[in-house]
Amino acid sequence: MNFYKFVVTVLIITLSTTTVAQGRRRSRTTTTSSTTEVPAVVDLEQTLAEREASLLDREESFRNREAVFRMREEKLSLREEQFKVREDKLSQREKNIELREQNTVRGSASAGCSADAAPADYSIVRMDIESGKLMDIGDLGTCSENMRFFANPDNETLGQCDCDYHQCSRPLIYSEKYKQCFWAWSQGPCEQKEWYVFDENYIPICEPNPCPETIALNTPSYYFKSPEDGQCYKAASKGPCKKKNERLFSVPDDPIPRCRTQSLCTAQSVPALQRCLPGNRRFLEGLCTEEAITSSDTEAEDN
Ligand SMILES: *[C@@H]1O[C@H](CO)[C@@H](O)[C@H](O)[C@H]1NC(C)=O
Repeated sequence: MNFYKFVVTVLIITLSTTTVAQGRRRSRTTTTSSTTEVPAVVDLEQTLAEREASLLDREESFRNREAVFRMREEKLSLREEQFKVREDKLSQREKNIELREQNTVRGSASAGCSADAAPADYSIVRMDIESGKLMDIGDLGTCSENMRFFANPDNETLGQCDCDYHQCSRPLIYSEKYKQCFWAWSQGPCEQKEWYVFDENYIPICEPNPCPETIALNTPSYYFKSPEDGQCYKAASKGPCKKKNERLFSVPDDPIPRCRTQSLCTAQSVPALQRCLPGNRRFLEGLCTEEAITSSDTEAEDN
């Protein structure tokens, strides 16, 4: 619709500008043929010029309006997409609820004998290793603080809560004692004046905090001690970085901030597998392969 309006407008404007040009040509010929009417012709030229200017103005405002319309259309389609995504999520959740209801009904009716039960959709739900209950993959509510329910990558029916790596602004470290994840370089499960950090093997330890305390917990700019020069720096700051575009960033498989050009922190909207990240539960329970750790070392050496 808008496009046709625009085409018609452009046609009208083109036609009228040609008419103006023709009129001007005609008026020029009159100027040369009769020398007596000079002031009148000047007036005519002036009004024609004014009219042309106002036409140009109008054309521009039409163009602006067209741009605004287009922008609005884009915004609308974006919103539509967002709605669709939300709808999908809602319908998935509904399915999960139905599934869970079916399972509870069957569980209570058949009292443990689940041979006739329809299999659960393990792309959506997994059985929690700890409680034995079915839980939604990606669920936050049933896990402890800073944790999320992930699918187990080694077993297609099991799942487990682990540090929520989707909150990647600051590394998280699992505490076996509290069964929850704490922000690295915060007091966490440690005593006062201590902080919860990685040792050289990425094993969590409590240490006296030699740096200023970071009050806000979920922040990308926290104080940490650099293992390279032993100094306190703020993450995401320039710190000791020499190259112009580098800052002290951590990446998912190397939680220690080092001079890097980017943090690779992209919060994902669809959580799935429990990952192997230094400091998380999977890592500390010894379920990670060598490669996962060595690959982060080589990356760190690149810098
Ligand atoms: C997954 O775990 C279940 C329950 O512990 C077990 O019966 C099954 O064999 C496991 N599957 C694989 C592929 O390891």
